[in-house]
Amino acid sequence: MNFTDVELHLDADLASTKNLTEIQNLQIKYLGRKGIINKLLDNLSKLSTEQKKKQGKAINDFKSLIENKIKLRQKLILHTSFESEIDLTLPGKKRQIGSLHIVTLAIEEIVRIFKTLGFIRMSYPEVDWEYFAFESLNMPVNHPARDDFESFFIDFPRHAKYGRLLLTPHTSSGQVREMKRVKTPPIKMINIARTYRPNWDASHTPMFHQFEGLCIDKNINITNLKGTIDYFVHEFFGEDREIRLRPFHFQFTEPSFEVDISCSVCNGTGNVKNIKCKLCKSGWLELGGAGMVHPFVLKSGGIDPVGYSGFAFGFGVERVMMMKSGLKLDDIRILYAGDIRFLEQF
Ligand code: FA5
Repeated sequence: MNFTDVELHLDADLASTKNLTEIQNLQIKYLGRKGIINKLLDNLSKLSTEQKKKQGKAINDFKSLIENKIKLRQKLILHTSFESEIDLTLPGKKRQIGSLHIVTLAIEEIVRIFKTLGFIRMSYPEVDWEYFAFESLNMPVNHPARDDFESFFIDFPRHAKYGRLLLTPHTSSGQVREMKRVKTPPIKMINIARTYRPNWDASHTPMFHQFEGLCIDKNINITNLKGTIDYFVHEFFGEDREIRLRPFHFQFTEPSFEVDISCSVCNGTGNVKNIKCKLCKSGWLELGGAGMVHPFVLKSGGIDPVGYSGFAFGFGVERVMMMKSGLKLDDIRILYAGDIRFLEQF
């Protein structure tokens, strides 16, 4: 058979193929070990070297042509069988798409709000020396205030200057690190991070998140602190919510406050239809701690407390997220139990 005859045969064969098995059979017939093309190659041995070269190239070119024709038919069969076997009007299969964790969503919202006020999000070590978590913040060893910040210590050699290594029990450990980094204010940072304390009950998890704001410049005062938290609360919770600063004590701020937010259930009155509000009992819900940065802390960070002043606040992310969504979790630990039935609701 010459090339033309083979091609005519192939065209006829291809025209009658209806499925991939038939295509496979054609591949064997034409391109297989004992196939037509190999038979053509067998004849080469009888030719002279010069003719062998010429004819060999011609056969190889022809082989490519055949391969292409078979492939083309194969594609066509694949395409048409797909269309005929699959009902294109059927709705597509829905794949399960993951979603962001409810705490992550809250963090994104918090960052967005503080960004509009010019706060820059910073990160500091999650495992840090106790100097940054305590001593630099005016909480010397054996000071009772440290009891409130029970900590997970790491089994690691002590640092000669900075003491033991621990999982940061609050985001305030970033304060002095930021002062040392910037050296000369202004400083306007927001630190949102995982924090750790050995607590495990319905309203405490050993790992939780805090967001901490630190603002230091010349002439920063309590009005700036109150205005900043006001702005956050209105953006995050709604215009109708109010805050109050309640005197409190932290070693690293002076004066110090607990920040409360008016309750959304009783509108800050403490009563619903003459019955004590079940959520807040008093009209107010606790948001977290705040205050004016203590001069000791400014000095730890190498900042002159005469020329500069600042405010700081630290709130629990899980707490504000629950307050915002009105989510009444009987047990906060569900947030980290990895239960998809709970998480997929958000
Ligand atoms: C502090 O951690 C201070 N560093 C806050 C601060 C920063 C005050 C800057 C002044 C200036 P406190 O221990 O109250 O404060 O914790 C703040 C918030 O973290 C609490 O209101 C609570 O919402 C959250 N929190 C504390 N422990 C846990 C826990 N185990 N699980 C979940 N949330 C917690």
